Amino acid sequence: MRAARQGKPAAGGVALLVALAVWLLPAVARAQLRVGFYDTTCPNAEALVRQAVAAAFARDAGTAAGLIRLHFHDCFVRGCDASVLLTVNPGGGQTERDAAPNNPSLRGFDVIDAAKAAVEQSCPRTVSCADIVAFAARDSAALTGSVSYQVPAGRRDGHVSNASDTVDLPPPTSTAKELTDLFAAKNLSVEDMVVLSGAHTVGRSFCESFVDRVWNRSAKPPAAIVDAGLSSSYASLLRALCPSNTTRATPITTAMDPGTPNVLDNNYYKLLPRGMGLFFSDNQLRVDTAMAALVSSFAANETLWKEKFAAAMVKMGRIQVQTGTCGEVRLNCSVVNPSSSTIELGSSAPAADEDGGVATS
Ligand code: HEM
Ligand SMILES: *[C@@H]1O[C@H](CO)[C@@H](O)[C@H](O)[C@H]1NC(C)=O
Ligand SMILES: *[C@@H]1O[C@H](CO)[C@@H](O)[C@H](O)[C@H]1NC(C)=O
Ligand SMILES: *[C@@H]1O[C@H](CO)[C@@H](O)[C@H](O)[C@H]1NC(C)=O
Ligand SMILES: *[C@@H]1O[C@H](CO)[C@@H](O)[C@H](O)[C@H]1NC(C)=O
Ligand SMILES: *[C@@H]1O[C@H](CO)[C@@H](O)[C@H](O)[C@H]1NC(C)=O
Ligand SMILES: *[C@@H]1O[C@H](CO)[C@@H](O)[C@H](O)[C@H]1NC(C)=O
Repeated sequence: MRAARQGKPAAGGVALLVALAVWLLPAVARAQLRVGFYDTTCPNAEALVRQAVAAAFARDAGTAAGLIRLHFHDCFVRGCDASVLLTVNPGGGQTERDAAPNNPSLRGFDVIDAAKAAVEQSCPRTVSCADIVAFAARDSAALTGSVSYQVPAGRRDGHVSNASDTVDLPPPTSTAKELTDLFAAKNLSVEDMVVLSGAHTVGRSFCESFVDRVWNRSAKPPAAIVDAGLSSSYASLLRALCPSNTTRATPITTAMDPGTPNVLDNNYYKLLPRGMGLFFSDNQLRVDTAMAALVSSFAANETLWKEKFAAAMVKMGRIQVQTGTCGEVRLNCSVVNPSSSTIELGSSAPAADEDGGVATS
């Protein structure tokens, strides 16, 4: 009697599990981003992020540019998984954040931390850092350019950050072919690339990213030069700003769109034909014929560019995302959750020291 009564629910439980598994498998397989992902689980999430971004923007308008770039650098390296925020490489070694394309130029980390703190207080363990980065980039585009779009959400945070993965990011010395290939590797078209490059209408750059266009540093002593595609007056200005002994650590920056550095307008495309694209890679967009045609069309029609920019940001935000039960919702955006960290394995460090040290992989 007792056995029968216990057996019945057990059998029912198995059937339920099978049904659940059958239902879950395809659900997990087709888990994808969607607008309003937090509508029931954290209805304030997007508003809280927007408030954190607005507060930071009021203190320093440049953070908007920083946050737009942060999303790009997150998505291009291991997908949009907030790997760019990690300060520890669980496998040892340097993180994305330490790597040259990000350090010291990337900014906005403090804004993401503030947004995360607000969101955790309102709805703990619910909103991923990768989604916060995507929301913050959208809010930054709204604040600087009245560009508005909805962000499909549901990204999960990754466990890995490795400096060497930043080779996926285009350096400012890229040729048109290299830009095309690096974006194609993320399933983004030449048009997406030209559209997204318009983000260089906001923000700043350190000298190191363009100094070799105005100084020949192989010559002894360094000689003044003007790289092809750079106006000579703009080159003189940049040379006066940046000493020839510039390094990545030289704390001098310049606005990429000197006229309106905090406005997301179509000036980038108007500056290129005037020899005022700051990077070698910017100027490549007018050397390549197909790219140049896009540049002219965006210079002529700002509305067109803004529409395409919004759509391309959404597309970029879908790169290699982890969804469903993949990855995790990080509690602290700078570090992976304790249970998922391989660092836990090193908790017997003192004993290992007696053995002559821990093998670091
Ligand atoms: C097409 C290839 C691209 C190259 C080669 C490139 C390169 C760079 C470089 C070298 C800087 C300055 C870094 C420094 O301070 O030294 C920069 C800044 C910036 N980039 Fe790009 N970028 C590209 C595409 C993008 C895309 C797709 C976006 C976003 C949609 C973007 C957004 C920005 C922003 C907003 C800044 C200013 C950041 C700030 O003020 O903190 N860039 N980029
Ligand atoms: C980082 O990536 C490189 C290249 O793929 C690999 O050789 C290295 O082992 C990785 N390091 C860590 C700590 O994961
Ligand atoms: C690009 O698309 C192909 C085909 O759909 C897919 O296999 C690949 O994972 C995608 N790559 C990225 C980086 O999204
Ligand atoms: C830079 O200077 C070196 C040494 O004088 C010279 O060989 C080279 O052609 C110069 N490069 C440019 C771009 O002027
Ligand atoms: C770089 O050159 C400037 C003069 O142009 C000099 O004052 C400065 O000390 C130099 N810095 C380094 C790191 O050599
Ligand atoms: C500019 O682009 C918008 C959006 O695609 C379009 O509706 C408009 O007709 C274009 N304006 C001109 C002058 O071509
Ligand atoms: C997140 O982790 C970092 C690195 O361990 C730490 O410095 C910071 O205080 C943590 N933030 C919060 C809110 O716990």
